[in-house]
Amino acid sequence: MLIGKPPDIPSSAITSKDRYLNRRRFLRGAVSGVVATGVAALGAERLAEVFSPRIGAMAGTKLETVKSPLTTTGEQLTSYDDITHYNNFYEFGVNKDEPAKNAGGLPIRPWTIRVDGKVKAPKTFDIDTLLKLRPLEDRVYRHRCVEAWSMVIPWVGYSLSEFIKLCDPLPSAKYVQFLSYYDKHVEKWSLDQAISWPYSEGLRMDEAMHPLALLTFGLYGEVLPNQDGAPVRIVVPWKYGFKSAKSIVGVRFLDKVPPTTWNDQAPSEYGFYSNVNPNVDHPRWSQKTERRIGLPFYAQRRTTLMFNGYADQVASLYTGMDLKRNY
Ligand code: MTE
Repeated sequence: MLIGKPPDIPSSAITSKDRYLNRRRFLRGAVSGVVATGVAALGAERLAEVFSPRIGAMAGTKLETVKSPLTTTGEQLTSYDDITHYNNFYEFGVNKDEPAKNAGGLPIRPWTIRVDGKVKAPKTFDIDTLLKLRPLEDRVYRHRCVEAWSMVIPWVGYSLSEFIKLCDPLPSAKYVQFLSYYDKHVEKWSLDQAISWPYSEGLRMDEAMHPLALLTFGLYGEVLPNQDGAPVRIVVPWKYGFKSAKSIVGVRFLDKVPPTTWNDQAPSEYGFYSNVNPNVDHPRWSQKTERRIGLPFYAQRRTTLMFNGYADQVASLYTGMDLKRNY
């Protein structure tokens, strides 16, 4: 983002989730024979430590889901491999392949979200309570990065509004801020960048209450891999991807616009609203088209849609606003 438009890294060939998992299973099978011999040498206690969810061994855990009417249909899903190996998660490095390599140490249990600011009373929610709060929905959304690449991702979660209702915001709460987990010892790659951590993002309250805004726990029917923002992240499908804070531990309700990471870094390049808008170019590149990750080269380039294709649902949130000024 700030460091420039990334080179068009050729993405891997399309791999379906099944093929991807079969490949992994095969590798796991091959490895497990070797591991089994070593396991006998390890004490049970040590084993529990090695495979503890605290170090992210929940990846692959299935989630029970229901279908959602809010799902986007008709577009080919981006492969699991691409969704989990072409990431932006600057706490774990600036290159797209680094989060998958480096995020293994993210301590995803125990995990809580602290809610404060303009609320009746501050509260703390445990991730396992949140997972059971509502039926988890399968929702396929288009995912458009400000760097002009895109994916189609089958997320798992429920509307953020359901969570916000539980937070009891006061009428004076006009904005909501999301704060990501930050520990420089776990995320040592963050120290190489002049970013003020933790990663922070925000929405206007009516945006946050829109049913499409998703409190997200998984993808492809499984818990989120760490590099995609485990154990819980925000997804706002009509906005550029950077609005979707990963691995959130804090939700703060405010009466004014919250400070946000990329807006702080370069306000002329990354506005607070950051709605996907093909008519407003980034100062350094066009937003008219995008490159769909994982497709054959000749099929990648496509026209970017206003509000990322969700105009029918969300355009009314911005009636009367100048979207060139409020980029
Ligand atoms: N959240 C945190 N905590 N740190 C980050 O660096 N990157 C953002 C957003 N959320 C980021 C983050 C950006 S720039 C994008 S495009 C999306 O996450 C990428 O999500 P993905 O890796 O799941 O595709």
